[in-house]
Amino acid sequence: MNTAIIILAAGLGTRMRSGTPKVLNSLLGRPLLQYVIDASKKCGVKRIITVTNPGHPEVIDLIKANRIEHTVQKRPLGTADAVKEALRYMDGFRGGLMIVNGDTPLISPRMLKRLITRHAKAKCDLSLISFNAKDPFSYGRIVRDEQGSPIGIVEEKDLKGGLKKIKEVNSGVYIIGSKAAKLISRIKKNSGKGEYYLTDLVSLSSRAGLDVKVFNIGSEEEFFGINSMAELAKAQRLVQDEIISSFMKKGVMFHDPSSVMVHGDVKIGAGSVIYPGVYIEGSSVIGKDSIIYPGVRIVDSKVGNGTSVLDNSLIEGSVIGEGSSIGPSARLRPGSETGKRVKIGNYVEMKSSKIADGSKASHLSYIGDAIIGKNVNIGAGTITCNYDGRKKHRTVIEDDVFIGSDTQLIAPVKIGKGAFIAAGSTITRDVPRKALAISRSRQKEMRNWKIKSRKGNK
Ligand code: UD1
Ligand code: CA
Repeated sequence: MNTAIIILAAGLGTRMRSGTPKVLNSLLGRPLLQYVIDASKKCGVKRIITVTNPGHPEVIDLIKANRIEHTVQKRPLGTADAVKEALRYMDGFRGGLMIVNGDTPLISPRMLKRLITRHAKAKCDLSLISFNAKDPFSYGRIVRDEQGSPIGIVEEKDLKGGLKKIKEVNSGVYIIGSKAAKLISRIKKNSGKGEYYLTDLVSLSSRAGLDVKVFNIGSEEEFFGINSMAELAKAQRLVQDEIISSFMKKGVMFHDPSSVMVHGDVKIGAGSVIYPGVYIEGSSVIGKDSIIYPGVRIVDSKVGNGTSVLDNSLIEGSVIGEGSSIGPSARLRPGSETGKRVKIGNYVEMKSSKIADGSKASHLSYIGDAIIGKNVNIGAGTITCNYDGRKKHRTVIEDDVFIGSDTQLIAPVKIGKGAFIAAGSTITRDVPRKALAISRSRQKEMRNWKIKSRKGNK
């Protein structure tokens, strides 16, 4: 069967009460809609069309980045109206229309494929996935006749009498065959909400004698729909718990898993220990036997084996070699790279810089646009002055250099191998190998100065 997936993403998401389009809200660092697009792409269907809102250009950008089709629903007049818009756009399409909501990020391609198979096997006109909900509150309830055949879906607001007891609910994933598709234009506006409900297609089709199948194969977790911030937080926790427990199975220790956030694409090696309040985001990779102490955030970075990142450090777009120690309170900005057994101590900031094996910058330094060799010691309070007000310049420090405390290196500048910079120096010229550079005024002592000056003041 030829199937196209229509992702509904044009709603306003008023229950979220935030300015962000609902489907762009982030769940572990990725927009809700991205999850649905990914699941759809893995189903093997030829076409994926997203229905969008004209007021949400950012959603259209996301769709374009995913190289799938989209069409704009002029006004969000309900889920049936959104599907009508898709049908107009797909004029002449022959096959099954699979409908998926853009706000159910946890759906799996496996489940979508299962519906495609079931629908084809049953040769029905309309099919959908249902599940039994412990909390059916924000879902449409499946109404069946005495024989168990589905005859309608009733939304929360329209529930009356015995229907309130129904626990079987609509997942929002359907396949609409061509006969049922013809009935969409007959759906009437819901008097309560003033919207056209796609769910009404079930009663219309059943009354028209079409074959409607409801497959109760879903689960509450997988079809968790996100309509409010509370539901977003709950979904995030759900996904997070799964990710963390899979890491624990692989030998990663979490002292307080509920306070930690680890994005879906992150990798962590066995024997590593993650303390409370740690965030590991994006495509970060943590090696084996590493320790990430409390309050650390690591974004799109690599941390080698046996490395410690001490309390309250921020690491972004950086690579840290094995056996190193970073922090506490260190900041590695994008483009920082350390070799093996490197120490970057407290209040040290690095940016677009490399520091090779065995080197140390233990305290209070700024290292920007610098290339630092092996076994270099960067003394406390060293600053690479990389910016002259117009351009950034490079500092090169070769192997075995000793930079005394409180040194300013005015870039561009190069310190030759094994050179020694005396504390308190301002270095403006290149320093040859093995040389001592000192640039500070000679100390003077003025004898009895205190007594003299006191007298003078009288
Ligand atoms: C919908 C179903 C409900 C089902 C639930 C599953 C209807 C009337 N109700 O309810 O039976 O249990 O999903 O999660 O369909 N959208 C548009 N255009 C619109 C309105 C909505 O594209 O004019 C999109 C939204 O962006 C959203 C999706 O359709 O992604 C569902 O809309 P939403 O308002 O969240 O429906 P629910 O009340 O959750
Ligand atoms: Ca919803």
